[in-house]
Amino acid sequence: MSSKRQILVTNALPYANAALHLGHILEYTQTDVWVRFQRMRGHECYYLSADDAHGTAIMLKADEKGISPEQHIADMRAIHEADFRDFLISVDNYHSTHSEENREFSELIYKRLNANGHIAKREITQAFDPEKNLFLADRYIKGSCPKCKAEDQYGDNCEACGATYSPIDLINPVSVISGATPIEKASTHYFFKLPEFTQFLKDWTRSGAVQEEVANKLGEWLDSGLQEWDISRDAPYFGFEIPDAPGKYFYVWLDAPIGYMASFKNLCDREGIDFDHFWKADSSTELYHFIGKDIVNFHALFWPAMLSSANFRTPSKICVHGFVTVNGKKMSKSRGTFINARCYLDHLNPDYLRYYYASKLSGSVEDIDLNLEDFQQKVNSDLVGKVVNIASRCAKFIANGNQGVLSKNIENPALWAQVSGAAEAIANHYENRDYSKAIREIMAQADAANEYIAAKEPWKLNKQEGMQQQVQDICSLGINLFRVLMTYLKPVVPAMTEAAEAFLNDRLIWQSAAQPLVDHQLAEFKPLMLRIEKEKVDAMIEASKEETANAVQAAPVEGPLADDPIAAEINFDEFAKVDLRVARIVKAAHVEGADKLLQLTLDLGGETRQVFSGIKSSYQPEDLEGRLTVMVANLAPRKMRFGMSEGMVLAAGDKKGIYLLEPDSGAQPGQRVS
Ligand code: MSP
Ligand code: ZN
Repeated sequence: MSSKRQILVTNALPYANAALHLGHILEYTQTDVWVRFQRMRGHECYYLSADDAHGTAIMLKADEKGISPEQHIADMRAIHEADFRDFLISVDNYHSTHSEENREFSELIYKRLNANGHIAKREITQAFDPEKNLFLADRYIKGSCPKCKAEDQYGDNCEACGATYSPIDLINPVSVISGATPIEKASTHYFFKLPEFTQFLKDWTRSGAVQEEVANKLGEWLDSGLQEWDISRDAPYFGFEIPDAPGKYFYVWLDAPIGYMASFKNLCDREGIDFDHFWKADSSTELYHFIGKDIVNFHALFWPAMLSSANFRTPSKICVHGFVTVNGKKMSKSRGTFINARCYLDHLNPDYLRYYYASKLSGSVEDIDLNLEDFQQKVNSDLVGKVVNIASRCAKFIANGNQGVLSKNIENPALWAQVSGAAEAIANHYENRDYSKAIREIMAQADAANEYIAAKEPWKLNKQEGMQQQVQDICSLGINLFRVLMTYLKPVVPAMTEAAEAFLNDRLIWQSAAQPLVDHQLAEFKPLMLRIEKEKVDAMIEASKEETANAVQAAPVEGPLADDPIAAEINFDEFAKVDLRVARIVKAAHVEGADKLLQLTLDLGGETRQVFSGIKSSYQPEDLEGRLTVMVANLAPRKMRFGMSEGMVLAAGDKKGIYLLEPDSGAQPGQRVS
């Protein structure tokens, strides 16, 4: 084995505005397999991650929820960390871009860029929401297409005719955030002079730092000319203020990759690791960023240019993967294939998906299809049918015939040499991120082991006089082959490996494949992995559809979803759990600082409840007072920035409007609705 390498590995930091889904998990699996492999080989490898916590989207999300951005990102971080943990993603540190370390590095890097003359400052004119006092990015403006007049088009291009334009050209533009008509407003912005790095980037992108297909794409951009990059945003913005520029904030993508450094610094301070050794300009260590194809420009253009100007090392490699599709189509909420990480974990074992993704990952930028039938079939036939099968067939003979102690003999040295000798080829596939080839090779060796056992038929020999040693030798080789296969699979299926290690009474490292266990005491054999049942997969899809449907009702503050949900069937008992009551709105009021909420005081026939409801866009408070409506009376209270919300009123609606439900006259507050 080569000498000990020192390696930093990162995945793209998930935005703190949404839960993780199975697309994210592809990336985190790809990264984690690589990291676990490196550690097994004895290298010093640190895996860093964090939440990407800044930006307008996160600020608005917190606003909608009626909580502070700090509270919102803390909530999201806890959810993301739990998803990482339960998918067995072995990060060494999970941090946040909204951290002191990140503020320091962002300021430091900015100051160095500025000192090197790589920052330009000039005035630009942008659309501005005069009600929210907020500059509007293109996606926050809608109006009619200046070309084909199609209504309800975003500020940068028309989905109907494909025209591209500036938001200023829209007919009747409105701010998506407040509904106000945007005005034009000038302000000073800060730019990173990316064009000055053109030659540097041409060389860097052709130095083996990115896959060839990615280098070709970047080559096109580099040839057509780079633009200066706008790295500032005006207040209000959730982020870091730019030094000596009051009211100006770093654009989220400026400090997001710096979050990699911040997370490592945080780990270094805790564990006494030498930060500079890894990040100084001429560092002999390695740095790998795993990312999706949608964020290549940030990682392979802006980031290395910034690092080089600021006198830090540049990445050894940017490893770009494609997107996950489910059953051949883009993940879809209404089909139930937009599957959240947590929803998967509620139904299925993380190793199943890790194995399936590994079997499909080739180190290319191609999209990856999660075909749910193929998923079930492949996991069952490979992991359970081939690998576990070897151990379960052999273990009982050794337990019964020799008290669980492996034989001293290698029954078939050629077969042992073949399976054990596959280690380097498999290691190369892992190193090159061609996991699909590694898995194919491992399964070919598993086939050889199964054929050997099937041909020897120890269960028949066991019934014959004088064949006991032979049975022990065959089954011991079987267990040893199983052990080698588990060594190869260890980076991919950590939970299954843990169970196998307990049975083998041995901790697997890459070198384990080189030497068999002889005269070695095994522990009791327990089932290592259960088959995937179709019912579980179906239940996951149903639950996923349900989540979408619930999101529409439980989050009226977000407005009903655009994607038309299909509610899952429920039985009467489930329905009966919902305590629906007639309520009278005795008071309705605006909520200071909330864009979508009204504060409702509800009379439930003697009992009074306070509810915050996202219906402001369709109702004036004074028109609501005195009206009857229907509420969910047993919804768990929710703490919002403005106070407790003790239930939910029911409303129909879509993007165009919200319509509060109202019982026929005669209904009384407090009456049960069923
Ligand atoms: N916050 C940025 C990354 C900042 S890195 C300094 C971001 N976040 S994200 O949550 O939108 O995406 C995180 C990663 O997940 C990205 O690499 C993205 O490509 C990946 N994926 C998001 N959806 C995906 C699929 N459907 N399939 C595969 N990967 C996908 O981008
Ligand atoms: Zn158009």
